[in-house]
Amino acid sequence: MRSAGRIVADILNAVREAAAPGVTTAELDALAAERINAAGAISSFLGYGSSFGMPPYPAVTCISVNEEIVHGIPGGRVLAEGDLVSVDFGVSLNGWHGDSAVTFGVGELSAERAALSDATREAMWAGIAAARVGGRIGDISHAVERSIRKRNAGYGVIAEYTGHGIGRRMHEPPDVPNVGRIGRGELIGKGTCLAIEPMVTLGSDATATLDDEWTVVTRDGSTAAHWEHTVAIRPGGLWVLTAIDGGEAELTARGVPFAPLGD
Ligand code: MF3
Ligand code: CO
Repeated sequence: MRSAGRIVADILNAVREAAAPGVTTAELDALAAERINAAGAISSFLGYGSSFGMPPYPAVTCISVNEEIVHGIPGGRVLAEGDLVSVDFGVSLNGWHGDSAVTFGVGELSAERAALSDATREAMWAGIAAARVGGRIGDISHAVERSIRKRNAGYGVIAEYTGHGIGRRMHEPPDVPNVGRIGRGELIGKGTCLAIEPMVTLGSDATATLDDEWTVVTRDGSTAAHWEHTVAIRPGGLWVLTAIDGGEAELTARGVPFAPLGD
């Protein structure tokens, strides 16, 4: 899973670097697809969903721009200066999955959008830092929610979409909600791997799904951000499998032990 996670991290960096005014989201997806092949990995997203009655997902990335929250399908949309873009991306390598999302601006971002992305990223790390063997899923959910609400910025925290267990499949039990209470939910056993992924808006938390059956947007048209990492929860600490440095810098800054396995 670490090897899959590193590939995810590298390709997300490449996509972020290629994003610029005038570039389409389909072009970014094509870049990611090419890089998956070069790495000898398999997309976790392409074709996903048909087993539970959804139209098979048609791309290797989800690219969600501005009012799109998650699961935006890449296409002809041309990126423009000031857009807030989230790219969600996952691959498997030798049958093991990695899943991560980043949010970034195209060119210069408004202060409001930059703050939203920063707050969402911070909420993801707060959730990660709350994960421990013997703890509960609700500890993570609470930490994510609290990190956003304490700002009193009027942000919406999306409760309808959640993080998830991950391993041999991209989505495994348990769900990891972005709102919740300490001490509730499933116990976290050693070696549990979770995708922790807050979605936050500048307005309300109400969502709608477009006719493509995938793209989730804010009902009020407000801008959304989404950050995600895949994390291994080990007896001695955490290992952020989709972070280039394994999470060492961010974990250490939060006083959380960094526990890689022969990285
Ligand atoms: N990676 C997304 C998640 O974070 C799911 C993508 S749905 C897909 O859970 F259809 F694009 F695969
Ligand atoms: Co995920």
